[in-house]
Amino acid sequence: MNRVLELQDITKVFHLGSMISRLRITAVDHVSFHVGSAEIFGLAGESGCGKTTIARMILGFEEPTSGQIIYRKKDGTPVTGKEVWRTAGVQAVFQNPFETFNPLRQVERYFFEAVHNFRLASSHSEAVARINKALEAVGLSYKEIAGRYPAEFSGGQLQRVSIARSLLTEPSLLIADEPVSMVDASIRMSIMNLFRELVEKFGVSVLYITHDLATAYYVCDRIAIMLRGNIVAMGDVEKVLVKPRHPYVELLRECIPETDPRKRWAAKVQLAESEQEEYLRAGCKFAGRCPHVMERCQRESPKDILVDGVLVKCFLYS
Ligand SMILES: Nc1ncnc2c1ncn2[C@@H]1O[C@H](COP(=O)(O)OP(=O)(O)O)[C@@H](O)[C@H]1O
Ligand SMILES: [Mg+2]
Repeated sequence: MNRVLELQDITKVFHLGSMISRLRITAVDHVSFHVGSAEIFGLAGESGCGKTTIARMILGFEEPTSGQIIYRKKDGTPVTGKEVWRTAGVQAVFQNPFETFNPLRQVERYFFEAVHNFRLASSHSEAVARINKALEAVGLSYKEIAGRYPAEFSGGQLQRVSIARSLLTEPSLLIADEPVSMVDASIRMSIMNLFRELVEKFGVSVLYITHDLATAYYVCDRIAIMLRGNIVAMGDVEKVLVKPRHPYVELLRECIPETDPRKRWAAKVQLAESEQEEYLRAGCKFAGRCPHVMERCQRESPKDILVDGVLVKCFLYS
């Protein structure tokens, strides 16, 4: 499988507090994964585990402290750093479409602006045709958005509009950071289905970032589960979630009612310690909450190990 995106041993350290009480948080800790062509790869975990930091580094908004991120264009040319954002081959879909668009601007302005910036058309009618094509891919049309302001759309519609805009440049990769968490539960699935359709029709790849295991299970091909900057389990979504190997994944799974996989991941999993304390912990970050904790988990960080095709970071298997 071709790799559209590859993260190689990515670390991001943030410095918090004043110069005197310097606190270092390793928000992303030696993370490696790839997104294949025409696949939906999930990056899931509780809030504060480092997901958005990863998205921002991929888009070039934030520089990794160490490691490399490589995006491959359709012709195979590798691109890294800030260049990624400029290729137009990678586009982002954000959490809140009402923040993506200025309430005082007609949404079509954003489309014409993108057509202009990326030189996608040489006449007005060509631009409209291009815009209409992108909107049709999400089940809308130019007629339906022409002259309208963001407030005239529902959250779900506006998220579709935002996805259409990201499709204008015919990207090969969409970075979708919590794209449905602000959208009504009733239409969340239709947006998930839309991502699947885009993959099948246009061969787009999607990095689907979420704190919601249920939608991730519904839509992803492969998934990585993050805990405090570490990927603790990664592989085929069925293998990772249905027969969890890592105790953390087991705990997360208990929060989804089995009978209805579309229900949201229940409230945040009970924290044994504060987010920051867990980040600063030596050894396995899950040791404070793990029912299987052993003495070495408190001291050493477990290495990745392959268990039945799933990458697992846990001493239970070494
Ligand atoms: N610019 C920043 N400066 C300092 N700390 C940050 C910054 N961005 C994120 N963090 C910290 O990094 C950790 C991961 O955050 P984030 O990537 O936003 O997680 P998620 O998207 O999974 O909720 C959190 O502890 C957060 O407070
Ligand atoms: Mg986030």
